[in-house]
Amino acid sequence: MKCLLLFFACCSTTVLASNLHQLLDFHEISHINSIQNSWTAGPSKLAFGKFQRRLMRSEHVKPHKSKDILDRKVLETIPESYDVRDYWSQCISIDNIRDQSDCGSCWAVAAAETISDRLCIASNGSINTFVSAEDLLSCCTSCGDGCDGGYPLQAWRYWVKQGLVSGGSYESQYGCKPYSIAPCGQTVNGVTWPKCPAQEEATPECVSHCTSKNPYSSAYEKDKHYGEFNDSIPYSS
Ligand SMILES: *[C@@H]1O[C@H](CO)[C@@H](O)[C@H](O)[C@H]1NC(C)=O
Ligand SMILES: *[C@@H]1O[C@H](CO)[C@@H](O)[C@H](O)[C@H]1NC(C)=O
Repeated sequence: MKCLLLFFACCSTTVLASNLHQLLDFHEISHINSIQNSWTAGPSKLAFGKFQRRLMRSEHVKPHKSKDILDRKVLETIPESYDVRDYWSQCISIDNIRDQSDCGSCWAVAAAETISDRLCIASNGSINTFVSAEDLLSCCTSCGDGCDGGYPLQAWRYWVKQGLVSGGSYESQYGCKPYSIAPCGQTVNGVTWPKCPAQEEATPECVSHCTSKNPYSSAYEKDKHYGEFNDSIPYSS
C-alpha cells in the first residue's frame, strides 16, 4: 500500500495532501478493502508529520512543464478489461511489487519498476530484468533528495543520459545493484523483519561498482541500460 500511495503522491502531492486525512480515515480504508482483495489497507502507524515528509517535502513539489506532457490519441475502442500480467507474463518485473522500506524513495522505486516493465514490453521480452532502484536512489543527484523524496520525471531523464544497471530487491540480491535497505516492520513470505528504525534510513552512498552479495558476472559500466524517448509505444493485441 505504501508504494502505491507514495507513487500517486509523486504525481499529485497537492491533491493528496488535502485528501490525506480522508485517505487515512476508517471508512476510506474499509472502502478500499471492500472493492479489492489483492492487498489489505490499514491505518498508517507513522505520525502525520513524518508521513507528510515521506510523501514528499514541499520543496520537491514542482509542476511538470507543458512540454513534458505528450498529447496522445486514445484508441477508439478500449477493452472492458486489460490486465498487463496476462499479456506480458514473460516479463519478470510486471507483477512485482517493490518494498521501499523506511526511505522516501517512492520516486526511484516507481520509476525503476515502470522502466523495467517498459524495457521488457518494448523489446518483446528480450530485455527481461529488474532495473535497479538503488542505482537511481543513490546516484541521481538531479532527481531530488534521495530518501527524502525526488522527481519521477528526472529519474526517467537520468535513465536516458546516465543509464541504469540491473538490481532487484534486498532479499533477492538480484543483478548488479539490488536494493540495499532491508525491509522492516513486517512479515513477508514467512520472514519477519525487525522493527523499522526510529530515524528514517539515510540515502545509500553512490558507488560505481556492483554491490550484490551474490556473484554477478557483468561489470557496472557494462550492465547499464540506457533509455530513449520514442513516440511509438508497442502494445500487444
Ligand atoms: C514476441 O514474442 C513472442 C513470444 O516470445 C512471439 O511469439 C512474437 O512473435 C514476438 N513478436 C514480435 C513482434 O516479435
Ligand atoms: C521507435 O520504435 C520503433 C518501433 O520499435 C522503431 O521502428 C523506431 O526506429 C524507433 N525510433 C527511434 C527514433 O528510435
